[in-house]
Amino acid sequence: MTSIKTSFPWISNPLIINAPMADNAGGLLAATVTLAGGFGLIGTKVDMSITRRELNIAKDTFAAHPSTPHSQSSTLNIGVGFLPFVLKLDDALAVVKEFKPAVVWLFAAKQFDDYAVWAKAVREVSPKSQIWVQAGSVASALQIAEQTKPDALCLQGADAGGHGFEKGSGIISLLPETADAFEAAGFRDVALLASGGIMDGRGVAAAMSLGAAGVVMGTRFLASKEALVHPMVQASILEAKDGGQITTRSKLFDQLSGPNIWPEVYDGRSLVVKSHKEYVEGVSLEEIQKKHKEALKEEDLGWKTGLEGRAAIWAGTGVGLAKEVDSASEIVETVRNEARKRLSLAAKF
Ligand SMILES: Cc1cc2nc3c(=O)[nH]c(=O)nc-3n(C[C@H](O)[C@H](O)[C@H](O)COP(=O)(O)O)c2cc1C
Repeated sequence: MTSIKTSFPWISNPLIINAPMADNAGGLLAATVTLAGGFGLIGTKVDMSITRRELNIAKDTFAAHPSTPHSQSSTLNIGVGFLPFVLKLDDALAVVKEFKPAVVWLFAAKQFDDYAVWAKAVREVSPKSQIWVQAGSVASALQIAEQTKPDALCLQGADAGGHGFEKGSGIISLLPETADAFEAAGFRDVALLASGGIMDGRGVAAAMSLGAAGVVMGTRFLASKEALVHPMVQASILEAKDGGQITTRSKLFDQLSGPNIWPEVYDGRSLVVKSHKEYVEGVSLEEIQKKHKEALKEEDLGWKTGLEGRAAIWAGTGVGLAKEVDSASEIVETVRNEARKRLSLAAKF
């Protein structure tokens, strides 16, 4: 935590970070989270004109708060999440050079070695940008720490919404085992963050007790006013209950639009939408893809409530704890206060 807190003094403990959700986490969400004393991240895919648009929105949001440190800072006090397996390094570098984000977040490289190449190049064009990498196993975390030397490593548990390691464990075992392995290997400068299923102050307190320096929350921020999210997706998130039953991990979700382009180690967690139900019932992939293609032409783009849609709705197992849409600043403040209370109660045992 020391390195993160020293570099980003506006952060209030415990550190709450919104996940860089491509298509869903834009500049307004990221800047609002940072302004609330957390750390905001923008998600990106391959179209860097969208990334630039969202970075400019974050810049404008900070400029509208001239009394904060963010309007004067030499770095843009949010991070940008890149997916190296699908994006050209040069395209990402041009954005990093132009905007100097405080953090460059990397997730889903073709091979774990690639992170080191990306980190070196990012450090050359923007030496002040921290490198944060997300991974889902002890072995990959050790490899990335050794080769890439990230400032932070986010351990993503199997409960996480969206893409993650197909084979995984929850953070309750992943985080301490990785922390022990890092201690033994002498990697003491890498801050460990936790993600996957964290929805409220109780989850944050649990992660902090496990030794996390901060938490990354995706699904909870899908139910925020600032998220860029289709109303049907947000309504589906709010109505979902019993996350271990209503969500599932599968590679099917990456095959709905055609061949799966994700590296082998990844699959994704989505609500159990109609496409998945039919897949389990034995309907052919070809037929499912055909129906999915048709559904995308509908007004709701294939998303429906009641698990009736055909398109994936990425969400973590904590989805049943998302009960209302709040502003991102309220989420950060409420979750932080609740976590503090929980931690001080736990200290009395
Ligand atoms: C809708 C959605 C989209 C996501 N997109 C990305 C992404 O573009 N890049 C990334 O690094 N992680 C992405 N993730 C994964 C998050 O980084 C994080 O691991 C996850 O949200 C944590 O679990 P939670 O959703 O239970 O909080 C996404 C997650 C969700 C729910």
